[in-house]
Amino acid sequence: MCGIMGYVGPNQAAPVLLDGLQRLEYRGYDSAGIAVLNSKIHVRKAEGKVDRLLELTDNSPLSGTVGIGHTRWATHGVPSDLNAHPHTDPSGSIVVVHNGIIENFYELRDQLTAEGHEFTSETDTEILAHLVARAYDGDLVAAVRDAVSQAEGAYALVVMAVHEPGKIVAVRRISPLIVGLGDGETFLASDIPAVLHRTRDFLIIEDGELVIVDENGASIETIEGAKVDREPLHVDWDAEMAEKGGYDHFMLKEIHEQPAVVTETLGGRLEEDGTAWLENVDFDDEFARNLGRIWITACGTAYNAGMVGSEIFRRLLRMPTSVEYAHEMRYADPLVSEGDLVIAISQSGETADTLAAARLAKERGARLLAVTNVVGSTLSREADDILYTRAGPEISVASTKAYMAMLIGQYLLALRLGAARGLSDPALAERVIHGLHTLPASLEELMHREAEVAEAAKRIANAQDVYYIGRGLDYAVAVEGSLKLKEISYIHAEAMPAGELKHGTLALITEDVPVIVVLTQEALYDKTVSAIQEVKARGGDVIAVAYDDDERIGRFCDTVLRIPRSNDLLGPVSAVVPLQLLAYHVARIRGNDIDQPRNLAKSVTVE
Ligand code: M6R
Repeated sequence: MCGIMGYVGPNQAAPVLLDGLQRLEYRGYDSAGIAVLNSKIHVRKAEGKVDRLLELTDNSPLSGTVGIGHTRWATHGVPSDLNAHPHTDPSGSIVVVHNGIIENFYELRDQLTAEGHEFTSETDTEILAHLVARAYDGDLVAAVRDAVSQAEGAYALVVMAVHEPGKIVAVRRISPLIVGLGDGETFLASDIPAVLHRTRDFLIIEDGELVIVDENGASIETIEGAKVDREPLHVDWDAEMAEKGGYDHFMLKEIHEQPAVVTETLGGRLEEDGTAWLENVDFDDEFARNLGRIWITACGTAYNAGMVGSEIFRRLLRMPTSVEYAHEMRYADPLVSEGDLVIAISQSGETADTLAAARLAKERGARLLAVTNVVGSTLSREADDILYTRAGPEISVASTKAYMAMLIGQYLLALRLGAARGLSDPALAERVIHGLHTLPASLEELMHREAEVAEAAKRIANAQDVYYIGRGLDYAVAVEGSLKLKEISYIHAEAMPAGELKHGTLALITEDVPVIVVLTQEALYDKTVSAIQEVKARGGDVIAVAYDDDERIGRFCDTVLRIPRSNDLLGPVSAVVPLQLLAYHVARIRGNDIDQPRNLAKSVTVE
C-alpha cells in the first residue's frame, strides 16, 4: 500500500519527508520519491527502498521548506524509476503523489491523449498531474477540485503548484490521510506513525474532504467546498501501536481492513449490470467460449480460497473445475491440456510450489491466469492474464484480507467468463452482483460483533482438539477457519464435510471437544443440523456461524455467531470473518505470538 508524506514549515522539508517515508516502510512498497518546492519543483525518485532515495538525495541534495513524498506499492505499471512518484505535468509546474486507484484511468488517459497529452510513465497518477495542470488558472484548490471531479475511485491525492509556493492541497476519497499539527509546522501523511515522534495532535481527514496546508496550519473543506470544523485528535499510542493503526496486532488490523479491501478489489471492475472489467485479463470471448476446463492451483489459504472459487465456477458457469494443491499437482502428471485455463492463486506470487505447478500448466499448453496481490511478482510476470487482488501488503503471517480479496477476485472472474459463455443461472448471478455491491457495508457491520466472538473464544481456548464442519461452500470456509486456528493458537483443528463425521471422526467427539459448524447453505441446512445432533448426543460443545434471521439454530447449538443475511453463493465471504476473529482471540488468550507464529513464514519460497 502506498505511503504519503507532506511538509510545510520552517525546517528543510527533505529530511522530514525521508524520515516519514522510512517510518511508513511497514506498509510495503517498491519505489520511493520526494518533491521539494523552491522556486521550481525538484524531484528525486528511485525504484527500491528509501535507502536508495537517501543515496540520491545525498549526492544531489534538495533545499526548500515545502515538499511531498511517497512510497509506491505498484498497481498500474511495474516498479521502476519512471513509475515512482512524485509525478509532474510536462511543464513541471504541478506535482502530485497519490495512493489508491483511479478506476477510470484508461478512459481519462485516452481523453487526454486525444487532446495531445503525452505521458512518461504507466501510472494512473500521472493522469492526475495532467488533469490538475489542465484546470489550473491560478487557483490550486479549484484545479484540484476539478481534477477529482473527473477521477473516479478510492484514493488520496496530494498536490503542489509552482505558482503557489508554501501550499499543499490534498484530497481524501476513501484512502487514508491525516494531518499532523506541529509547532509552527504541519505534516501530511497516510498514517499516524510517519510523524508520531514530531507531534501527538492530528486531524483525521474524512472521506470526501479536501485539506489545504500552508504556513497557517491546515483548513478542511468538503470536496464541494463547504467549510469543515474538526477538533484535533490527541494520540497517546506508542510508535509500535501506531504502526498497527491502534490495533494490538497486524492480524486484527488486517481483519478489520476487509470491508475496505472488498471495495478496492471491486473498484471500477463491476458494473451494476454485472459486466466485469478486468484490466490485465486479456483472454477473448472466443477463448472463454471454447474453454474446456478450469484448474485452480495454490497452497494453504490461497488453496482454501480456490476451494470456494471452484464452487463459484461450477455454480455460475456449470464448468468442470478442479482445485489442486500446487505441491501435489506438480508431481501428479495432471491431465491439463491446451484450451484449459489454469488459475494460480498466490498472495505473494512467489510460492515455490505454486510457481512450479503454474509452469507445468503452461508447458502443457494451458492459459495461465494469476490471482495475486503483488504487482511484478514472479507469478504475475509468467502469467498470460493477471487479476491483482489489491488487498494491500499483508504483514501478519496468518492470511485474512488476502483470502478475502482472492474470493472477490474469483467472483469477478466467473462473471467475466459468464459474460462470454452465458451464466448458468442468471437470477443467481444477479443476486451475487447485488450482494457484492452491498458486501463492504455488511462486513463493516460484522466487525462490530467482535466482542461476541471474543466471548466464544473463551469456550475453546483450553481445548486440545477442535473440529470444523460444514457442507458445500460451508465446508470450504470451515477448512480456512481450522487453518487459522491451527497456525496461531497451536490447537489441533480439523475440518471435514459435515456428512463425513459419522464415518469415523465421531469416535473422537466428547464433551471436551468443541465443534464449529458453518451454516450458510440453505439447501443443505437440515442435513447439517443432523450432524449437529450427532455431536450434541456425544456431549460436544457446538458453536455455529449462522445468519441473523436463522431462528431455528438456537435450539441445536450452545453458541451462535451471527452474520448478516446474504445469498448462498456469497455466504462464505461473511462466514469466514467470525472464524478469523475466533482464531485470533483464542491465540490471544493463550498468549501466542499472533503475527509471527512459530515455525511459519509469510512467503514459502522453498519446495
Ligand atoms: O503467498 P501465497 O498465497 O502463495 O502463500 C500460500 C500459503 O503459504 C499461505 O496462504 C499460508 O497458508 C498462509 N500464511 C496461511 O494463513
